[in-house]
Amino acid sequence: MAILSDDEDLRGTKKDSFQKKNPIVKPENIEYDKTFENSIRPKDFDSYIGQGALKETLKITLEAAKLREKPLDHLLFYGPPGLGKTTIAGVIAAQMGVDIRITSAPALERPRDIIGILMSLKGGEILFIDEIHRLNKVAEEILYPAMEDFTLDMTTGKSQTAKTLRVPLPKFTLIGATTKAGELSGPLRDRFGMVYRLEFYTIEELTEVIKRTAKILDIKITEDGAKAIARRSRGTPRIANRLVKRVSDFALVKYDGIIDENVANDSLDTLKIDEFGLDHTDRALLNLIIEKYDGGPVGIETIAAALSEDVRTIEDVCEPYLLQAGLLQRTPRGRKVSPEGYRHLGIKTPSEQTRLF
Ligand code: ADE
Repeated sequence: MAILSDDEDLRGTKKDSFQKKNPIVKPENIEYDKTFENSIRPKDFDSYIGQGALKETLKITLEAAKLREKPLDHLLFYGPPGLGKTTIAGVIAAQMGVDIRITSAPALERPRDIIGILMSLKGGEILFIDEIHRLNKVAEEILYPAMEDFTLDMTTGKSQTAKTLRVPLPKFTLIGATTKAGELSGPLRDRFGMVYRLEFYTIEELTEVIKRTAKILDIKITEDGAKAIARRSRGTPRIANRLVKRVSDFALVKYDGIIDENVANDSLDTLKIDEFGLDHTDRALLNLIIEKYDGGPVGIETIAAALSEDVRTIEDVCEPYLLQAGLLQRTPRGRKVSPEGYRHLGIKTPSEQTRLF
């Protein structure tokens, strides 16, 4: 199975030349990180931990498609980042015995980007589009007939002499992934035969993910050590995998090379990742709402500006887990810190404070 990297998909595009001219990349995007993620990605359902209900449904769907000798219906996965949307798409491709082409909506800026990819697909292949809610209108319109009838409708020439050309495409499966299903246009959402939500992982599931990763990377870890890291991984395997690597650095330099509960907790304390897995930005967000806005409600733009963060980072990275953990609440008038959020920071809620007088 050939999983093409974003760079291969984007060869010759604007982003490619932009990156050549601007070689500075954000630390989280450096190639090393992607190689690391790819090296530990499970390739089949047995080694894919968690998402039990989704896995069972998918196994049946895949089996049925194989029996019918037809490509799989188009699939949409949604949920917070880091829960394994790309990974499960890779597993599906491997199970179906087909290739997968991986790209993301921001890379499909011009009509020719999406047309180029669609025309290069082979029969049965999977096209994976990450962040599909960011697809522009033109690309979306190109996708509709491609998804529905496996055709490309193209216009050549200008105004009166314009001709519409219908180009047949091989049958393919589109797998879309998004952190924001609500931002997908209705017509695009309706063209997916199956829509699935990925759930946060339990501590037990994350413990298994961590032990599996440690084994692949030859890191020595005890059950309690894995569990201690799992507790601070915000229900997210991507975070768990990063933390196990960071903690293994500490184990190697400061301890005897083995990650046990004490090594894990001590290292994560030093990294300022608290018992809930919150980092500096998460705590700054809760503190800001409490101290400057009496616990809220306050608008997301105001929060982002005060923290000098991007609204999208707050919405996609920080908020989902704070909401799920019950530390933050979303109201029609903005975000509010919950009583649990106050308790977590060791601050009395306004009603507890007034009770003192
Ligand atoms: N690494 C990242 N996600 C994983 C998963 N769901 N199962 C096993 N290893 C993983």
